[in-house]
Amino acid sequence: MAESDEREQNNLSRVDHVILVLSGKGGVGKSTVTRQIALGLVEEGKKVGILDIDLCGPSIPHMFSLTGRDVHQGTDGWIPVYVDDTQSLCVMSIGFLLNNKDEAVVWRGPKKNAMIKQFLSDVVWGQLDYLIIDTPPGTSDEH
Ligand SMILES: Nc1ncnc2c1ncn2[C@@H]1O[C@H](COP(=O)(O)OP(=O)(O)O)[C@@H](O)[C@H]1O
Ligand SMILES: [Mg+2]
Repeated sequence: MAESDEREQNNLSRVDHVILVLSGKGGVGKSTVTRQIALGLVEEGKKVGILDIDLCGPSIPHMFSLTGRDVHQGTDGWIPVYVDDTQSLCVMSIGFLLNNKDEAVVWRGPKKNAMIKQFLSDVVWGQLDYLIIDTPPGTSDEH
């Protein structure tokens, strides 16, 4: 097994359910639905993570008022950003790695796929009941 596949398994091994939010079009409410599902599950007492892989227009940080927050590197990978002290909701977004939220990332092909792969393998989610993935528009390689 390749090293990154192994890490992907380790960091996702304690995630019980993965929900993928996708649609062929942009601006139809994917990020809004992602947010509502997450908040609904937290309300039910679940531990939830959101992975925002909309590399072209990550809106999740903005929606949770987390723009400008830093992602820290731990020994096992990136530590997601926790929305509040209850630690019931955490977020990882490409938006945290950009300097400003309007900065469009125009990555293609292998580079984009490598970034998504790294997102899957290198984030230390810990135990989660649900991981919700907000995707870019389309039904392409990233999905
Ligand atoms: N059910 C809805 N009714 C009306 N407007 C909505 C609804 N869901 C989302 N919107 C609005 O539509 C726009 C795009 O939503 P967004 O969730 O960012 O879409 P996507 O992630 O698919 O690009 C936002 O301005 C959002 O506030
Ligand atoms: Mg979106």
